[in-house]
Amino acid sequence: MKNPTSMIDIQRAPQSKISETNFDNLVFGQVFSDHMMECDYKNGEWQAPVIKPYGPLTLEPSARVFHYGQAVFEGMKAYKDNEDKIWLFRPDQNFERINRSSKRLAIPEFPKEYFFNALEELLKIDKDWIKKGFGNSLYLRPFVIATEAGVSASAAKEYKFMIICSPAQAYYSGEVRVKFSEKYSRAADGGVGFAKAAGNYGAQFYPTNLAKEEGFQQIIWTDANTHDYLEEAGTMNIFFRIGDKLVTAPTNDRILDGVTRKSVLTLAEEFDIETEVRRVSVQEIIDAAEKGELKEMFGSGTATVINPIAGFGYKDQKFELPKMEDSYARFFKDKLMKIQYNEAEDKFGWRYEVK
Ligand code: COI
Repeated sequence: MKNPTSMIDIQRAPQSKISETNFDNLVFGQVFSDHMMECDYKNGEWQAPVIKPYGPLTLEPSARVFHYGQAVFEGMKAYKDNEDKIWLFRPDQNFERINRSSKRLAIPEFPKEYFFNALEELLKIDKDWIKKGFGNSLYLRPFVIATEAGVSASAAKEYKFMIICSPAQAYYSGEVRVKFSEKYSRAADGGVGFAKAAGNYGAQFYPTNLAKEEGFQQIIWTDANTHDYLEEAGTMNIFFRIGDKLVTAPTNDRILDGVTRKSVLTLAEEFDIETEVRRVSVQEIIDAAEKGELKEMFGSGTATVINPIAGFGYKDQKFELPKMEDSYARFFKDKLMKIQYNEAEDKFGWRYEVK
């Protein structure tokens, strides 16, 4: 294979936009750094990656992505420690997952060397966009779209793999309440629920808007067959604390194999927190809430990290969860962030330095 670092074409932005950005008041995913990575697939292979100024794309209106949603993405974050070192968290997991997602969407897999070399170059060029301090990060959005022109309904022969970067603080501002889905579904057996396919997210907007009208921020999706079992929230995997036991649904072809989710499970084992990975029924959670045994619910994800859930609704019932001082949500968030920001020992080899 050719040496990927030397073949990255770097075109620098003539001027940085950083001074126009208010880093104290960031809305998630609204501002983007000075550069982006773009790599084209054509003639049966990925071409040399290019790092260029962040800006609009020109695509044929007939490009497959617009018609058939052949698109997948990832969510990652870069962190800066107190000595200005830049870190990623388990990036190998995101790399492997985007290729699993691509495979399911008939998109050619992306070479590992291109991914890591281009991502690291991009982060070095835009390093000033990564701010220090707990909660500050540069959210990284790798994605792949089918660019081949023509509306025949078949897998494209041309694609773009891109990475864009957005300085981030909290994903949700304020308390999060969730609605358990009784009608709509996010994913079905044999479908694409496990993949980070763009369409998995777009299909959630309408039911989520209905839930928002009732005062909820997110939906907890239930299994498509019976709607009896809780699966995941649209932007997070979901955990329940019943008594002192931590319970979460197993991953399968409907549920995203979340990097934060699996890290929480590893940390729970390390700290002797009893965990059950099994199907969780709606009825069980309602019963536990009614008996006062449901102490917490929280979501996990790259964008949200660990997000406590203040309450939930099902049909016409609404439940509020207790406000815990010694919550698992706070415990796992603290443990994870200390690893991510290079403030704690990295027992499991999760940190990856960009240098
Ligand atoms: C992430 O946590 O990075 C996600 O992919 C969720 C996103 C849809 C905001």
